[in-house]
Amino acid sequence: MTERLTIALSKGRILREALPLLARAGVVPVEEPGSSRRLILETRDPGVRLVVVRAADVPTYVAWGAADLGVAGKDVLDEHDGEGLYEPLDLEIARCRMMLAAPEGTPPPGRWRGGRPRVATKYPRATRRFFAARGLQVEIIKLYGSMELAPLAGLADYIVDLVDTGATLRANGLVALEPIAPISSRLVANKAAMKIKHALIKPFLRRMEAAVAAQRREREQSERQAEGARP
Ligand code: ATP
Ligand code: PRP
Repeated sequence: MTERLTIALSKGRILREALPLLARAGVVPVEEPGSSRRLILETRDPGVRLVVVRAADVPTYVAWGAADLGVAGKDVLDEHDGEGLYEPLDLEIARCRMMLAAPEGTPPPGRWRGGRPRVATKYPRATRRFFAARGLQVEIIKLYGSMELAPLAGLADYIVDLVDTGATLRANGLVALEPIAPISSRLVANKAAMKIKHALIKPFLRRMEAAVAAQRREREQSERQAEGARP
């Protein structure tokens, strides 16, 4: 049987932003992914297929070798133990920041008075690390989404969530208090596959590196144009 590469990625934002990069690297799904409910997407390159999984499951598929490569947010990777995974490339897509936020008027956690403040988040590991580095004791409440609701509903005093434009925070009367980490999506690789399928993975990685560089040049050019167009 001929060897092939399996790449795991999640639908929504990551699939949308990864497809143009993959196309630059020569990987184009046979079927339009938006209109298909298939979870295995064959590509025009018979040596490469895509599998569509939940964002938080990408590291698991890759670590167990069910996929050779994957695309996952740094936020998701930091919650995984990372065993069995290499992270060879920052794809510079799905960029945002992990932030500590709270309702307007909330003191920074270092000046919190009373018992331990409660922090709602989808990212307990990153949150624990952030507060531990500051020597602050907090109660972490794990949620799976809509973190912005937690302070409004009286569930938590602070949240740790992803922020891009800030629109979701503003719409819910919250303000960003401290940046925790810059986030972008990374290409991850199964450690064993990196050795066994070296001859397939190495040239694919080179093509992806070139695709990221081309994407960066275009982004910087449009940023310069937007800067120039400003009155
Ligand atoms: P699922 O839908 O499987 O529960 P999810 O809601 O985390 O997962 P997405 O919202 O598509 O899936 O986010 C996927 C990744 O995109 C995140 O892990 C993060 O790295 C990045 N991301 C999330 N929100 C934003 C945002 N507002 N702007 C830019 N990137 C983001
Ligand atoms: C993400 C994140 C924030 C929002 C931030 O949610 O969890 O709620 O984006 O982006 P903004 O600063 O531009 O408003 P997303 O839209 O992915 O929804 P979900 O995680 O609930 O699916």
